[in-house]
Amino acid sequence: MSEPAILAIETSCDETAAALVTERYAILSSVVSSQIDLHARFGGVVPEIAGRAHVELLEPVVSEALTAAGRSPTDPGIEAVAVTNGPGLVGSLLVGLSGAKAMAATWGVPLLGINHLEGHLFAAQLEVEPVEHPHVTLLVSGGHTMLIGVHGPGRYRLLGSTIDDAAGEAYDKVARYLGLGYPGGPAIDQLAHEGDPEAIHFPRAMAHDGLDFSFSGLKTAVIRYVQRTPDWVAADVAASFQAAVVDVLVTKAMRAVELFDARALVLGGGVAANSALRAAAALGAEEAGIRCALPSRSMCTDNAAMIAAAGWYRFRSGEASSWGLGAEPSLALELDGAP
Ligand code: KG4
Ligand code: ZN
Repeated sequence: MSEPAILAIETSCDETAAALVTERYAILSSVVSSQIDLHARFGGVVPEIAGRAHVELLEPVVSEALTAAGRSPTDPGIEAVAVTNGPGLVGSLLVGLSGAKAMAATWGVPLLGINHLEGHLFAAQLEVEPVEHPHVTLLVSGGHTMLIGVHGPGRYRLLGSTIDDAAGEAYDKVARYLGLGYPGGPAIDQLAHEGDPEAIHFPRAMAHDGLDFSFSGLKTAVIRYVQRTPDWVAADVAASFQAAVVDVLVTKAMRAVELFDARALVLGGGVAANSALRAAAALGAEEAGIRCALPSRSMCTDNAAMIAAAGWYRFRSGEASSWGLGAEPSLALELDGAP
C-alpha cells in the first residue's frame, strides 16, 4: 500500500498549484503552474484573468501532481484534501475550493481549509530539520509583511507588520516604474547584482522604532530620485533600493528575535526568495548565535506543498472543514495571544 498523503490545492493568486505530501513531510509531487505570462503585459495580476486561468489549469495540474506521485485518480491513497480558502482573490480561491470539495467528497476524505499565511509559515518545515520553537518568522510576500512569533504549530503572535505597502508590493511597484516588468522582485534581484548598493542612500523608514514596517516612502523616494537624476543608472537604483528593503527587514527581524527570545529565524513568502535578503538574514542569525531556516526558493513563493504541510498539522489536530467552507479574501492569521 502506498504511504498516505494529503493532496493540497493552492489557487489564491496567480499560481495554480497542487501537491502530495506525506505525514513525515516527504514531497511526493509539487506542481506549480504560473500565470506570469498572462499577467505580465498588464503589469500585475488581473483578477478576472486569474480566475479563468485557474478554471483551465486546475484539473491538469492536479492530474499531473497525482501522476508524478505515482497515484491514480480512482485510488489515490489520500487522507484529506487541503485547500487555501483565504486570504486571496475571491474568484481564484473559489476555483480551488470548489475543486477541492468535489475531490474530497468523491474520495470520501475530509476537507481542510487552510490559511495561505499559515502555509507560508510551514514552508520551512518541509525541507530542513524541524525548526525549534519558539522562533520568529519573517513573512514577506506580495500582500503581507509580518514578523510572527511562533510558540508552536498553530500558536502565533503578531510582533510587527507593515503600515502601508507589503515588501513584495514595493518591489513590484518600483520595478514597474523602472520598466523592469512583472513580477518585479526577481527582476530587481537580478539587476541588483550589477549595481552598487551604496550608490544612493534611500531612506530606512521606521528603522529605529518598533517592529512595524513602512515601504511607501521608499517607493516615493526611488521615483523622486529617478525624476531628478537625468543620468540615473537602473542597476544602482535597483541595488540601492534592495539594500534599503533588506536592511530594514533584517534589522527588525533581529530585534524581534531578541525580544521574543527566539531560537531560530525563519523566512517565508515570495520575497524570501531574494538573494540579498537570504544572505543578510543568514548573517544576522549567525551573529546572534541562532539558526536561520531558509526554505528553498520554490517553497518561498506560492506552492501547494506548504498548504499540505499546514494541512497535516490541522488534520492531526482532528480538524475538518464543513462542506459549506467559503472563500475568505481577507482571512487573517489566527493569533493565540500568548505572551
Ligand atoms: O508569496 P508570493 O509568491 O505570493 C503572495 O502570496 O503574495 O509572493 C510574491 C511576491 C511578489 O511581490 C514578487 O515580486 C516577490 O514575491 N518576489 C521577490 C523575489 N521573488 C518573488 N521579491 C524579491 N526578490 C525575489 N527574488
Ligand atoms: Zn503567498
